[in-house]
Amino acid sequence: MDSSREIIKNKNNAKAGKQMLIGLHLGNGYGSQPGAWRMPGVDPKNYTSFDARVKQAQAAERGKFQFIFLPDGPGAMLTDLETESPSFNLDVMLTLAAVARETKRIGLVATGSTTFNEPFNLARQFKALDVMSHGRAGWNAVTSSGEDVAANYGRRIPSSEERYGRAHETVQLIQELWGSWGKEAWVHNQESGQFAKKEQVVPINYKGKFVGSRGPLYIPPSEQGQPIIFHAGGSPNAHELAGRFANVVIGAAFTIEDARAQRNAFREAAKRYGRNPDEIKYIPGLMTTIAKERRTALDRRIKLTEGLIPQRAAYLQQMLGIPLDLSRLNEPLSKEQLDAARPSPYDPRSRHALKVAKEGWSLRNIIAHGVIDYHPVIVGPGIEAADHMQAWFEAGAADGFWISPDINEDGIDAFVDEVVPILQERGLFHQEYEGKTLRENLGAPDQYGVDSRVSTRRNETPEISNN
Ligand SMILES: Cc1cc2nc3c(=O)[nH]c(=O)nc-3n(C[C@H](O)[C@H](O)[C@H](O)COP(=O)(O)O)c2cc1C
Repeated sequence: MDSSREIIKNKNNAKAGKQMLIGLHLGNGYGSQPGAWRMPGVDPKNYTSFDARVKQAQAAERGKFQFIFLPDGPGAMLTDLETESPSFNLDVMLTLAAVARETKRIGLVATGSTTFNEPFNLARQFKALDVMSHGRAGWNAVTSSGEDVAANYGRRIPSSEERYGRAHETVQLIQELWGSWGKEAWVHNQESGQFAKKEQVVPINYKGKFVGSRGPLYIPPSEQGQPIIFHAGGSPNAHELAGRFANVVIGAAFTIEDARAQRNAFREAAKRYGRNPDEIKYIPGLMTTIAKERRTALDRRIKLTEGLIPQRAAYLQQMLGIPLDLSRLNEPLSKEQLDAARPSPYDPRSRHALKVAKEGWSLRNIIAHGVIDYHPVIVGPGIEAADHMQAWFEAGAADGFWISPDINEDGIDAFVDEVVPILQERGLFHQEYEGKTLRENLGAPDQYGVDSRVSTRRNETPEISNN
């Protein structure tokens, strides 16, 4: 098949929802493993380097990733500064502004707290970024839940009811502000002298229980109209917020069963708001250490996490329910230990940890498989990542994945060169960007202003539980 026909075929698959989405986690500039900043070839000053972020986003764009995803507190996220970098960007919007100027297609998604920001500020920054990037912005609208973050605002974390109540109002208000500059209002006709159709740029006069704004917001539509809403969270209140507003959910799940249940919960919530469940894509995380051989990948992980091994081994005891001898890190678990081991029902990673232990790896190597991390971890050749992604995707557990490479410096390229081609060959991932905007590349429906199906100006205030 010639390449233009191949692209058309992929376009059709994407439209039919048959291809997965891939995002790149871009945090502190080093990678997802704590020791990444000290690895050979890594500039230890990347924490403050906008050039490094640009380079990393460009690497993801080379691999046709649909978006980069920047988490944010804002705070340091519980790292020990003595030995570790903070987890986040210096400022997510400034990073994305720099990346916008040096990339062409990749979506730019930043986290912005609905708990501690004024909606007008968020509306303005995200729409300006959307215009600047020619329609590639996404807003990960989250509620903040860390007291360390609250302390930066001189506050305490409000109740869930209050956080999600404010979140619902904030997203609606912001979308109303985005729509307050009419879609066709900007005339900029030098001959007639008409700059804009004044009557189409109107105040919104939103006054809710938690937030308010008069408006309008003086920003015309971007090429995709307005930014895409993302959400990250897993509670029933998160399902409700995302089901109402989000096109993409950044998730975290360790098993296919859990991911499928989460995906279904978000899809059901979308249906309750009269939306088509395919309008919301569930994207769980995947951490990667990709190398041609499993042994090379394991050695890389061991080097990265050396200092954490005793702590992780101690935790592994609880996951497996057996005592482990930390002085015998280089030996496999004995038959007696394996027979006595019982995966902890309190940690969804435990079954996988036991499976790895039963393969006969040493204690050090079991840990190097990433059995104790924030997401499922692939430590090995690219095909293992592709197999994992295909299995989850085809089981209805994921619409795509957000990838956290161990070390960004070469880990993004490893994924792009070793995993992406396999997924493309299998018809599971697009060969080329479908369009210029994030909306087109996600297959998200057109929207400008608030979606009338979910607006409280028409409906009742949604139910928010106080758990
Ligand atoms: C995968 C994932 C990513 C998240 N990323 C962020 C983030 O970048 N910043 C943030 O403040 N909260 C983040 N959160 C936290 C959620 O927004 C939320 O505060 C937390 O899950 C508690 O929510 P709950 O009150 O609904 O239980 C994330 C949550 C998940 C599951």
